[in-house]
Amino acid sequence: PKLTVVTREGEESTIEVESGLTVMEAIRDNGFDELLALCGGCCSCATCHVHVDPEHFGKLDPVSEDEDDLLESTDHRTEYSRLSCQIPFSEALDGLKVQIAPED
Ligand code: FES
Repeated sequence: PKLTVVTREGEESTIEVESGLTVMEAIRDNGFDELLALCGGCCSCATCHVHVDPEHFGKLDPVSEDEDDLLESTDHRTEYSRLSCQIPFSEALDGLKVQIAPED
């Protein structure tokens, strides 16, 4: 499945991602160093914050309480905010587009 990543400056690239990776892993492994993902995906840093394209947002699993708390601690939360390490990527999400959120 394909994932489109938009950088903070608005530059778009589409990458092919193996199912089973999280969106955070896919972004990080493709060299987008804007996405710090400092905690390595254990839902405790919020530096993997992305804004999901509204068109795709409804396909994602709901936000957990931990994720919600962390998102609340960020400065740039929108109604389409997610922590990318909490989004397992799969065929069902083919075509998903996310933008890396501004730095806190
Ligand atoms: Fe730290 Fe996602 S990588 S919360």
